[in-house]
Amino acid sequence: MVVLFAVRFASCCLRGNRRNTCDSTLSWFRSQWIGNALLAYAPAKLNLTLRVLGKREDGYHDLRSLVVAVDLVDTLVFRPGRVRGIELEVNVPELRTSENLVVRALELVRDFSGAACENAAVRVYVHKRIPHGAGLGGGSSDASCALRAGRDWLAARISDVELFELSARLGSDCPFFARRVPAAVVEGRGEIVRPVALGTELHFVVVWPRVHLSTQRVFQACSARSDNNDCESRLIDALQGGVFDMRLQPLLRNDLLEAAAKLCPAIREIVDMFHCAGVPATMSGSGSAVFGVLSDRERAVAIARRIRQQVTHFVTTVRSLE
Ligand code: C5P
Repeated sequence: MVVLFAVRFASCCLRGNRRNTCDSTLSWFRSQWIGNALLAYAPAKLNLTLRVLGKREDGYHDLRSLVVAVDLVDTLVFRPGRVRGIELEVNVPELRTSENLVVRALELVRDFSGAACENAAVRVYVHKRIPHGAGLGGGSSDASCALRAGRDWLAARISDVELFELSARLGSDCPFFARRVPAAVVEGRGEIVRPVALGTELHFVVVWPRVHLSTQRVFQACSARSDNNDCESRLIDALQGGVFDMRLQPLLRNDLLEAAAKLCPAIREIVDMFHCAGVPATMSGSGSAVFGVLSDRERAVAIARRIRQQVTHFVTTVRSLE
């Protein structure tokens, strides 16, 4: 009952946020108490660039990526547990496992805070809207959200800096979400997060061919390498200069696209579909979601409608968070 109310309340907040961009910034990133339940939001991300600079000795790759948080959002609801420990409920059955990063995040918070929290009993309900295995960062965002909300729930003494460091242990995408900024250039393995101002609201059409890709497999299959040049600044300049046509395309570079498209050919077909409509497009993260970049919501809605007529993929419009 509380969960239903909380999720409905969240939906209202999110709908409200579309009308009020100023308040939305605060609400997206802030958790809220409703009675004895704690409600928190986990936004998706899009990688406008993702450049692989080289392989590291630890097996990971050095990256540079312009990452933007968008208004496609999972909701996490924390409630008092019935038994000691962490109970997880998810509206997607295959994600209801102890391997879920939300559980691992809460275990990290509990272990980091020691004796004060070891008897904690918490139930977490994750309402997923972000497709998983799509390169949209849903699992990482849920995990970073769980770290912060878990700290609030347990009243654990963990600083923001410590929380950020813990996030890097959970996954390479987590530090971006842990910083809770609307956009950043992310470097290293993912642990260097440099917030950037986009200076303009961006609209996207996200198309996911309903294929779950393993990040590890895509990285293993990738041989593309980029120079260490600053194409992210050029991309931001172009967007701020109002360039939303195919001149943007060379700057939307994702070095993992070719490897991902070998595993999932639909990725190329979706990129081509956008190009046929004159919309610059690329893949997010390690795929398989592809997005087109647009300057306004009306055009995004029109393009999404056109794509829905052609394919049965998951298609949605989103905008950048401010
Ligand atoms: O850090 P995360 O668990 O999300 O990474 C999943 C996989 O993606 C890693 O096991 C690694 O193979 C690959 N990866 C990488 N370099 C990165 C991030 C991820 O090689 N910077």
